[in-house]
Amino acid sequence: MKIGIIGTGYVGLVTAVGLADMGHDVIGTDTVREKIEKASKGIPHLYEPGLDELLRKNLKRGNIRFTHSLVKAIQESDVLFVCVNTPQKEDGTTDMTYVESVSRTIAENLNSYKLIVEKSTVPVRTSLWIRRTINLYKRSDEDFDVASNPEFLREGSAVQDFMNPERIVIGVESERAKEILVGIYKKFEDRILITNIDTAEIIKHASNSFLATKISYINLISELCEKTDADVELVAKGMGQDSRIGPQFLKAGLGYGGSCFPKDVRALIKMGEDLGVDMNLLSDVDKINKQRIKVFLQKIKKALWIVKKKKIAVLGLSFKPETDDIRNAPGISIIKELLADGANLRLYDPKAMDKMKKIFPPKIPKILYFQSPFEAVEGADAMLIITEWNEFRDMDMSKVRELMANPIIIDGRNVFKPEEVRNLGFEYYLVGKK
Ligand code: UGA
Repeated sequence: MKIGIIGTGYVGLVTAVGLADMGHDVIGTDTVREKIEKASKGIPHLYEPGLDELLRKNLKRGNIRFTHSLVKAIQESDVLFVCVNTPQKEDGTTDMTYVESVSRTIAENLNSYKLIVEKSTVPVRTSLWIRRTINLYKRSDEDFDVASNPEFLREGSAVQDFMNPERIVIGVESERAKEILVGIYKKFEDRILITNIDTAEIIKHASNSFLATKISYINLISELCEKTDADVELVAKGMGQDSRIGPQFLKAGLGYGGSCFPKDVRALIKMGEDLGVDMNLLSDVDKINKQRIKVFLQKIKKALWIVKKKKIAVLGLSFKPETDDIRNAPGISIIKELLADGANLRLYDPKAMDKMKKIFPPKIPKILYFQSPFEAVEGADAMLIITEWNEFRDMDMSKVRELMANPIIIDGRNVFKPEEVRNLGFEYYLVGKK
């Protein structure tokens, strides 16, 4: 069974490498030349722990190759995983241009039976559109099936998630498609859930939106905690000990970011509204999430009074630790607002600075980038923690204290032990607790 991976972004590249490592014969393709050139040399175009090693191992074993030619990937494969971008449009709907264009190219190059598997997160009913498009444009009598196999990989631990999945959801509408996909994931047979395609598509959206709801819920509670003497971390612990609630995704902070939750919540709202379902619950989840940045900015102003010309160290730029991804990172909105207020920002992140420089190029004295957190805090009037990298947790805080002009920390992720930093003389602002 030869597997083609169309689109080698986060999802595509991890899926390609993961399937190759499981022993499958994989060919990956992408329209961005640089991604293919790098991947062919064993260099992932993104930072994901363990991915480079696994890519090189499987290139060496000959299980994986890459091509610039989508046609070649289609013609040489039996199964095609569609992992292309599904960006969001202004109105919240998903832009399906790339999926449609790939479907047409598959139709025009249908040289044998193909199983087309939706891997990108797509709106419910997408499979019907793919099927219709292929039927409209195909030039041969070859047969094909469409299936859905949503991914549940988390950035930062995507390789590990791929190798140890909690569930493999397979949405199929033919016995042939079912057999092929179950065969590909044979190793995880005990975790396979087989559904129809609509169900599989909804499982993906419902899962992400549920997790986002949990996060907004605890963030809402954290505001309540801040207005009282409650401690949101203990509230979350107390709630999480109830196995019906569970402890995960109850970490209050700056809200959910990244390329999935913000987009997927809005897409599900739009999907529901289009189908005549009242989606207000999720509209509030989205609203609470946006509110997190405002609450954080208010804290900065409360601590500094006037932001203009203040030197502010901003630690953490990626949307979460262990990734260089800055899509929908809270840091972007925070930096924008602080710049508008005239602050002089000193930025540091272990992995994401190159990407952030494309949005905020260095500009003396407004935006400076540093090679270590210690350089960033030098002479600063305040330090902001935006992403909870372990590197920040482990910092020598007496050294930080000595370097800063004013010992003020506004922490969006509660990374330090309050007593310890306060004993060192820091004024310390946390989320959902004193
Ligand atoms: C998420 C899902 O967790 C994956 O299962 C899914 O496959 C993926 O989206 C996707 O659809 O592709 P990811 O966006 O990589 O994965 O990151 P998460 O670890 O889920 O975190 C999302 C956001 O929520 C981050 O901004 C994180 O800081 C925030 N978060 C998470 C919290 O604020 N509190 C928490 O308790 C947990």
